[in-house]
Amino acid sequence: MPLKSQIEAVREQFRAALSNFPSDPREADQVRIRFLGRKGLIARLFEEFAQLPPEQKPVFGKELNLLKKEITDQLQAALQALSQTAQPQARRSVDYTLPGRSFQLGKRHPLTQTLEEVKRIFTQIGFAVAYGPEIDDDFHNFEALNIPEHHPARDMQDTFFIEPKVVLRTHTSNVQIHLMEENDPPIRFIVPGRVYRNEAISFKSYCLFHQVEGLYVDKRVTFTELKGTLTYFIHQMFGPEVQIRFRPSFFPFTEPSAEVDIWNEERRQWMEILGCGMVDPAVFDNVGYDSRIWHGYAFGLGIERIAMLKYHIQDIRLFYQNDLRFLRQF
Ligand code: PHE
Repeated sequence: MPLKSQIEAVREQFRAALSNFPSDPREADQVRIRFLGRKGLIARLFEEFAQLPPEQKPVFGKELNLLKKEITDQLQAALQALSQTAQPQARRSVDYTLPGRSFQLGKRHPLTQTLEEVKRIFTQIGFAVAYGPEIDDDFHNFEALNIPEHHPARDMQDTFFIEPKVVLRTHTSNVQIHLMEENDPPIRFIVPGRVYRNEAISFKSYCLFHQVEGLYVDKRVTFTELKGTLTYFIHQMFGPEVQIRFRPSFFPFTEPSAEVDIWNEERRQWMEILGCGMVDPAVFDNVGYDSRIWHGYAFGLGIERIAMLKYHIQDIRLFYQNDLRFLRQF
């Protein structure tokens, strides 16, 4: 191919390359090398040029120099345009010397933490965890638990009614009935849950709170076992130095019954944290367990009371206000 056509061919190739100029700097540099590199297309044209007879050199020398200049100038312009558009990108890039942004980690609510701890202690000694309905009928919340028609708990003043025979459960003891209806003995469960009472709100009472019910039914279950299990739980929860007392009490669904108090040094008074007792045979009769064969104990812990003692919280209402200044302390 005569040199003149070769020059035109390289010019054409360069124009094509320029109209399709890459935005990636390294690819752009490849274009430069292809045309202006030491073994590039221009260099090769100059080699051809060297072979020419002397009389042809002035004309083609001029032609070649023009092509080289055209390519050099236009490449430079294209590369410069590229580095200018690339620069804002560089300014946006990460400064790795800056300190990192810290995340605001959420925390678990103190009641959740207390509940988790209670569950851990009881599941480790063989209790399974079960749940039951918060809206329940009169039978499960009262009647089957031997709570008589005229018991004050059935009063509008104490219970939230949804319908005449449907209530927001006033305790987790309703799940005792569900569990015994659904399972044959022996059984051993704890039942965490929310309960509701239509009470005057104060530092120690709120319209909703949390309980963990316990129910153990087997052939030989004694009050001593109940006392030992609850004492073990309290020592796990509060440490071995805590002062506790079992106080005789009454519940329609247990006989005998007791309440357990913990000494609150800050208030210098006993604080009730649970009710308990041996399952009343009348309750077994209501669920079809043979009360001549089966014995059992039951208890109901107040989670708020336990959390208040454990974390030295003076007002139960703080648990429900979602004030971050309070919640961040746990
Ligand atoms: N349900 C009772 C209450 O809410 C507590 C309790 C549970 C008592 C189980 C005895 C046995 O006060």
